[in-house]
Amino acid sequence: MAFFLALVCILILLAIASYVQYTRWQKGKGRFGGHGRSAPLKLPPGSMGWPYLGETLQLYSQDPSFFFASKQKRYGEIFKTHLLGCPCVMLASPEAARFVLVTQAHLFKPTYPRSKERMIGPSALFFHQGDYHLRLRKLVQGALGPDALRALVPEVEAAVRSTLASWDAGHVRSTFHAMKTLSFDVGIVTIFGGRLDERRKAELRKNYSVVEKGYNSFPNSLPGTLHYKAMQARRRLHGVLCDIMRERRGQAQAAGTGLLGCLMRSRGDDGAPLLSDEQIADNVIGVLFAAQDTTASALTWIVKYLHDHPKLLEAVRAEQAAVREATGGGRQPLAWAHTKSMALTHRVILESLRMASIISFTFREAVADVEYKGFLIPKGWKVMPLFRNIHHSPDYFQDPHKFDPSRFQVAPRPSTFLPFGHGVHACPGNELAKLEMLVLIHHLVTGYRMTHGWLLPLSMGLRL
Ligand code: HEM
Ligand SMILES: *[C@@H]1O[C@H](CO)[C@@H](O)[C@H](O)[C@H]1NC(C)=O
Repeated sequence: MAFFLALVCILILLAIASYVQYTRWQKGKGRFGGHGRSAPLKLPPGSMGWPYLGETLQLYSQDPSFFFASKQKRYGEIFKTHLLGCPCVMLASPEAARFVLVTQAHLFKPTYPRSKERMIGPSALFFHQGDYHLRLRKLVQGALGPDALRALVPEVEAAVRSTLASWDAGHVRSTFHAMKTLSFDVGIVTIFGGRLDERRKAELRKNYSVVEKGYNSFPNSLPGTLHYKAMQARRRLHGVLCDIMRERRGQAQAAGTGLLGCLMRSRGDDGAPLLSDEQIADNVIGVLFAAQDTTASALTWIVKYLHDHPKLLEAVRAEQAAVREATGGGRQPLAWAHTKSMALTHRVILESLRMASIISFTFREAVADVEYKGFLIPKGWKVMPLFRNIHHSPDYFQDPHKFDPSRFQVAPRPSTFLPFGHGVHACPGNELAKLEMLVLIHHLVTGYRMTHGWLLPLSMGLRL
């Protein structure tokens, strides 16, 4: 019953929102009716579906990939539609993705539902554009850059070992669950520089998982709902982070290493702190959020692809056995240089990212009327670069549905391989994510043997 009521509410709200948008859009249509322009720009091809709901139901009643792919087949690289109350232009070519995310990025701003923004933290970098974004991004990139990562290898290795040990002991619900624990732990050491006591870590983990559960639930302020609980847990997370910052300011070693230290030490030209505690907390929660499920999905897909391709698994195992030799049979820790000598494993990672296309597409909003190849993208419309369609198009990847890491022996053409996005908002965590994958694969294939059903969540003493 509650579910039904929620559904009805959502539909009514959607209808109102899309009606407002639709009438605005109808009025806006006149703008380009030729005055001042010799050839008025036309909107991209495509259908806008029903007046209120657009094509939202079509999208959700089919496999989304199928929805996008069939549109692309019919209309080409750029087409319009109407989803969740918003008129959208979808872009399915590398050139168009580059236009929106790189060359004309200033004409397209990030756009997220207000409720998600409040849940993650309004000052988190992915919601921003311009100066604030640029400054913050430099700090985040610094904390996730090569020097920082080199120092993180032992921490990542420790997290991988402990994940595999608990998996092996049968303490995990599913592969994805195990991988989420791993990516959360790595997120924590990246942020706090390995200097966080277990009590704090447990507080963060528990409260974060409550936030996560409510992230996709219907936004409302009724006590007891998932959304409400998530917002409360978010406030507690914020409190824990502020406590940690206060403690660190009081200590002689100051803020310490890790992303948190970088953010706390940042100073503007006048020497004053660049970021408030509020802004720092939003960004810490934002990075945890951006890092966890994405990396965990990638790791899970890799495990599945290796499992499905036994010959490839053997080749990867041979490559990793050589690395294991180089570490004295696993007695010495893995070093950064070792992770750079895993060529085949690296290609397996790239191919997994292409096949799985974890972030299938992203959203931006046009901040002005924009022309693309003679088509008009009206101000206020959403644009969606469709990464997955590009990755799965035979125009850019031969035999796209075949899992074939050897295709990456040759670098993909520019702007065709975008698992981490493109341009000013491209993923600053991509090297860390790849490091995690390399280290996990190393220990998985050298330490474990496969038996049937190793993906079954309940299998005990799991051996690859
Ligand atoms: C396999 C794992 C990952 C994938 C597939 C992935 C994918 C992406 C993509 C596609 C974007 C761009 C979104 C857009 O343009 O709208 C992005 C942004 C971002 N990612 Fe990742 N990511 C991964 C792991 C990580 C990790 C481990 C971290 C941090 C430790 C991270 C932090 C971020 C942040 C902070 C942004 C926002 C950047 C900005 O707006 O300037 N990601 N990620
Ligand atoms: C959340 O954080 C608070 C500290 O603010 C802590 O007392 C609590 O145990 C944490 N866990 C959960 C599940 O909320």
